[in-house]
Amino acid sequence: MRIALVGYGKMGKIIEEVAQKRGHSIVAQLNETPTLENLNNPDVAIEFSNPEASFENSRICLQNQIPVICGTTGWLDQKPEIEKIAVENNSAFLYGSNFSLGVNLFFALNEKLADLMKNFPEYQVQLEEIHHTHKKDAPSGTAITLAEGIIKNDPRFDAWKLEETKDHQLGIFALREDEVPGTHSVFYKSDVDEIEIKHTAFNRNGFALGAVIAAEWIQGKKGNFSMKDVLFN
Ligand SMILES: NC(=O)c1ccc[n+]([C@@H]2O[C@H](COP(=O)([O-])OP(=O)(O)OC[C@H]3O[C@@H](n4cnc5c(N)ncnc54)[C@H](O)[C@@H]3O)[C@@H](O)[C@H]2O)c1
Repeated sequence: MRIALVGYGKMGKIIEEVAQKRGHSIVAQLNETPTLENLNNPDVAIEFSNPEASFENSRICLQNQIPVICGTTGWLDQKPEIEKIAVENNSAFLYGSNFSLGVNLFFALNEKLADLMKNFPEYQVQLEEIHHTHKKDAPSGTAITLAEGIIKNDPRFDAWKLEETKDHQLGIFALREDEVPGTHSVFYKSDVDEIEIKHTAFNRNGFALGAVIAAEWIQGKKGNFSMKDVLFN
């Protein structure tokens, strides 16, 4: 495949390495708004930039029928609009708050546990995420997906919020520590014990590999997708 990297920062550079090892060519390395010229006729764009740029970058690619794999977090209020643009332009869009296989398995485990725990109100639920200090958004996109997985399965909750769980709002602690690539925990605490499930990323390679696998998978497809479609269907 000819891959355009839209956003050539920490993630873009690791995606480049992984993609080349899998036999793909990198035809663009952009730290600016994409155009038809600088995209250089790719089969797919992999978009890991920043929350302010992501919607516009994806829009330009989709309107030119270039499928987009988007990993940028922190812009999700505009996701319905970009999905509409993908359909209107007969293109393909795949958003993943986290592209690693381990986290996607963790998402499934989180939903199963939430379904089990909904009948035991003596356990208070709390989420926690830890990331490096350069991260622009809080809570992380991954923590939001985990919170949505609990809200969907446990009628005690109808929204998430930063900080502590209170009433119908599921709490997320967002901690920032030096070079942590991403650690997510879900706690169920009672007066007598605690259940914790935790995912720890050791580096960014798992995210990059997942994004390249998604780019391979989306070739020839039309519509809106998630990593669930890539990994479990
Ligand atoms: N979904 C996942 O699995 C996953 C994993 C890790 C990081 N992320 C997210 O990916 C994003 C990027 O992370 P990073 O660690 O590579 O950040 P980074 O800051 O290292 O890189 C972002 C790059 O985007 C560039 N940029 C700025 N404006 C741009 C524009 N208009 N168009 C294109 N590029 C532009 C910057 O110059 C920079 O090189 C963040 O939102 C982060 O939260 C997602």
